[in-house]
Amino acid sequence: MVGGGGREHAIVRALARSARAPELLCAPGNAGIVSDARCLDLGAEDVRGVVSAAAAERVDLVVVGPEAPLVAGLVDALEAAGIAAFGPRAEGARIEGSKVHAKELMAAASVPTASHAVLRSRDEMLEHLARASYPAVLKADGLAAGKGVIIAATEAEAREAVDVFFVERRFGDTEVVVEEHLEGEELSVLALCDGENVLPLAPAQDYKRILDGDRGPNTGGMGSYSPVPGFDPARTQEIADAVHRPIVDLLRRRGTAYHGVLYAGLMITAAGPKVLEFNCRFGDPETQAVLPRLRSDLIELCLASRRRGGLVGVSAEFTDEWAVTVVLASRGYPGSSSRGEVISGLADAASIDGVEVTHAGTAIEDGEIVTAGGRVLNVTAVGPTPGEARDRAYQAAGLISFEGMQMRADIAARAVERVATA
Ligand code: AMP
Ligand code: GLY
Repeated sequence: MVGGGGREHAIVRALARSARAPELLCAPGNAGIVSDARCLDLGAEDVRGVVSAAAAERVDLVVVGPEAPLVAGLVDALEAAGIAAFGPRAEGARIEGSKVHAKELMAAASVPTASHAVLRSRDEMLEHLARASYPAVLKADGLAAGKGVIIAATEAEAREAVDVFFVERRFGDTEVVVEEHLEGEELSVLALCDGENVLPLAPAQDYKRILDGDRGPNTGGMGSYSPVPGFDPARTQEIADAVHRPIVDLLRRRGTAYHGVLYAGLMITAAGPKVLEFNCRFGDPETQAVLPRLRSDLIELCLASRRRGGLVGVSAEFTDEWAVTVVLASRGYPGSSSRGEVISGLADAASIDGVEVTHAGTAIEDGEIVTAGGRVLNVTAVGPTPGEARDRAYQAAGLISFEGMQMRADIAARAVERVATA
């Protein structure tokens, strides 16, 4: 496993449930993953280091968690060294690495998305903003850890943001995508791809803002739940057919077959689902709510995705239970973030029936588990109804404490309400 966040911990746990009883290694892992896998002191983005460690350890399969090493070509480098890897090659990962490229693919494959323009300079952008409609959404082209999107309510706000991109250059030397603001509710649909076929996993909903009621700045994700009322397997398959399949078909025709997870972040608009973004990997924190419900063997699914056509006849089975993940973040997140705070209550939380605590930003200092900044922990609970899953997750989260801990109180409230009134 490559990576060291909550998503990687959830993937490690799912891999461990495989009938193959794998020996698991993780680079670099964290203070929680170390209980489930042997951690290697290697950065996830250290392509050469990961390749030589995988060779030295005679690893059978490398599963890559984060986008940065995928975009940097880790899978290409592993395959060149004869090591099997799960994830797209660099050319496929560009669907996340460049928003301009993603928009080009969506246009070429007729995938529904917001209308947009690509702006290359301050002057070009100012001219465009004078005739744009508002609110408008401004996005840096490259990877920005979820922080490269500005929603401008008015032209005045958008004009202020121009300098962020072209004067302050917060996102480096970048092109900017300005797109139509879509209204609706967001949905994440992750699908396994084998170069030809698309196998959607159970859908999830992510809570991106730091504060209850979807207020405050965007984060990497403050919680999630799965499944999502109104999106049964048939409806999810329809979305995958309209959104993921045309992209996989296009990339195959272009000679760059896509293998791995293709994640569509969607807005469910009055005119149907439209793509906000594609990611080239499992979502964080969606994965923490999706994988505990997976009953199929994740290693078999990863291996099948690597073979062209390998997913034919393969299904991904999920339990009928609901899963809710609450993220515990450090003080100051997503702006600054504190670290080194001692965490208490982990064992008590994990001992509650149906609860799993996965680590994101944790470290071990003087034998104690401490925060390491950003999102710190994920508390996931499963239950027969969204209400029970949510109550368990919050009961467990309430047992954990560290100085400055932030958590949203309304994760999965929408699902609880909808299922109760259905
Ligand atoms: P992205 O990184 O492109 O997914 O954008 C991050 C977040 O910004 C999304 O999850 C949405 O909440 C919001 N967003 C992005 N694009 C749009 C859009 N066209 N309309 C409305 N909200 C958007
Ligand atoms: N949950 C958002 C992401 O993984 O990009």
